[in-house]
Amino acid sequence: MRDPIRRPTPPRDPTEGVLAAPIPRRRMLLLLGAGVLASGAGLGTLLEGCASVAPVTVTLGISPATMAPGVPVAVPFSMTNSGGTTVQATMWVVKNADGSLTAYNPRCPHAGCRYAWVAAEDKFRCNCHGGAFALDGSVLAGPSSKPLAKLTVSEAGGAVDVEVPGDFATPRESLGA
Ligand code: FES
Repeated sequence: MRDPIRRPTPPRDPTEGVLAAPIPRRRMLLLLGAGVLASGAGLGTLLEGCASVAPVTVTLGISPATMAPGVPVAVPFSMTNSGGTTVQATMWVVKNADGSLTAYNPRCPHAGCRYAWVAAEDKFRCNCHGGAFALDGSVLAGPSSKPLAKLTVSEAGGAVDVEVPGDFATPRESLGA
């Protein structure tokens, strides 16, 4: 008579059965929330992620009455950002058909390069990666998934004020791409 083949028994997992029953979603969220609240660092990080930098209002040296509708104008400005750095840049401002103004953040929404209006092509172009944007800021070509960022403009008493992000930094000239 032959001996039966004895196969080795795999070692038992010491945690086997501990998580056999799934944790209800609501209970899991409560446990995660308690974990975050129990950690001061975790709470601080959470609050930090929610914090936003206040915009800086800059007054532009332009006269809307002299601007032609639909023709972007490069407007230089200077500001001190939230890091205490004085930044000088040029933003593009468009006078719309109804007389209102649209100002664009001068950083390309793809990777922050400087872009410019190319009148012959009737579009904004960014040379870093070939991005192209229409007069209304929408994406025409290139890698950007976002349109040009519009800045809040207000006009009062002949002054044109624009809210620039407080953490604004000088647009990059080139990424070598
Ligand atoms: S930074 Fe403008 S297309 Fe990449």
